[in-house]
Amino acid sequence: MAVAELSTSCTKTHSSQLSLSSSSSSRFSHHFRRSFRPLPTTRNPTISCSVASDQVQTPIPVQAQDLKGKSECYGVFCLTYDLQAEEETKSWKKLINIAVSGAAGMISNHLLFKIASGEVFGPNQPVALKLLGSERSIQALEGVAMELEDSLFPLLREVSIGINPYEVFQDAEWALLIGAKPRGPGMERADLLDINGQIFAEQGKALNASASPNVKVIVVGNPCNTNALICMKNAPKIPAKNFHALTRLDENRAKCQLALKAGVFYDQVSNMTIWGNHSTTQVPDFLNARIKGLPVKEVIKDHKWLEEEFTEKVQKRGGVLIKKWGRSSAASTAVSIVDAIRSLITPTPEGDWFSSGVYTNGNPYGIAEDIVFSMPCRSKGDGDYVLVKDVIFDDYLLKRIKKSEAELLAEKRCVAHLTGEGIGFCDLPEDTMLPGEM
Ligand code: LMR
Repeated sequence: MAVAELSTSCTKTHSSQLSLSSSSSSRFSHHFRRSFRPLPTTRNPTISCSVASDQVQTPIPVQAQDLKGKSECYGVFCLTYDLQAEEETKSWKKLINIAVSGAAGMISNHLLFKIASGEVFGPNQPVALKLLGSERSIQALEGVAMELEDSLFPLLREVSIGINPYEVFQDAEWALLIGAKPRGPGMERADLLDINGQIFAEQGKALNASASPNVKVIVVGNPCNTNALICMKNAPKIPAKNFHALTRLDENRAKCQLALKAGVFYDQVSNMTIWGNHSTTQVPDFLNARIKGLPVKEVIKDHKWLEEEFTEKVQKRGGVLIKKWGRSSAASTAVSIVDAIRSLITPTPEGDWFSSGVYTNGNPYGIAEDIVFSMPCRSKGDGDYVLVKDVIFDDYLLKRIKKSEAELLAEKRCVAHLTGEGIGFCDLPEDTMLPGEM
């Protein structure tokens, strides 16, 4: 049921009962430079355009071909932003659709404005933002859309918000899945896996049904590796390779700690792999990482520090931040999502690589198949990646990797009911924790 939609001329005021169950198809469509009053908190909210109907100029007719495939684009709005018609925009690329879940949250609040500004996809790449929220966050989501409008980003061509993933994910070429339930007091990790797993199973189905068949999916909501696996298993039409679990924040944290210890700026640290789960079993790999092009162990002689302090610092950085902030990291997470996207759409610098949680089938390291595991990747900048072959292992590294692998295999058994592989059975290792759970 459509709740309300802003028409081109903003002459209509729709009024209907808010029905926000996920099975209903509520959506608000907001177009750039349209302004509207926020939803009042009454039982029968209305959405009104702040421009009175008699003040709106008659829309200039738009050629039918201009509207092709732009179902949410109307009259004046379309003409105003006809990329081909304007000298400064006619060389721009074709608009891309980016879906973001948890769009009213803190991480998104940093991320969306970076995407809209062109910082992520480039200065000649127009974008459409498709924002998914929840029943609880719909008012805040409207606030996000309003702030996006007020920012007058030239590249932001379209903003739509809604709570139905099947609608919001329509034609999405990127899906940045941030929204997830945080672990509450007394909640077992198995409960968290189940609750969030259900969200990601549903979103996988929605992507399968509605998104572009080659959509790239970055799962941020925790436990992100297993959520990515669940999402992938519920989206059989989308290549498994297209699913990522965000471990770029861990990579960035690891680079920062190595730079601090070595007394160099962090741009001197390269070849940083995070292996495994985005949890306290993750393995920041100092064996293959480099500082000023040299193996880390040649630059940092304190190997005990590397094995103990460094590793634990990276594993638990998220938790330390939660203690300081009173909430999870948001700005640095958003930055790391930008880094993760940019690593896929720009060629990886010669000799370097980046970390991402990806599907293990066919991996050259002997890691168990059929899980999502962070590994070193390289990209030609086409949105795809290959796994890096020339990495070395020692006993320390292998032992740590095995521990993270065992954790992910246990998580997988726990969510078998959500991946279509039978009945879930949870035998999670005792110490398995998200970076923020300490
Ligand atoms: C982080 O790494 O900062 C977060 O994943 C922490 C958490 O557990 O929410």
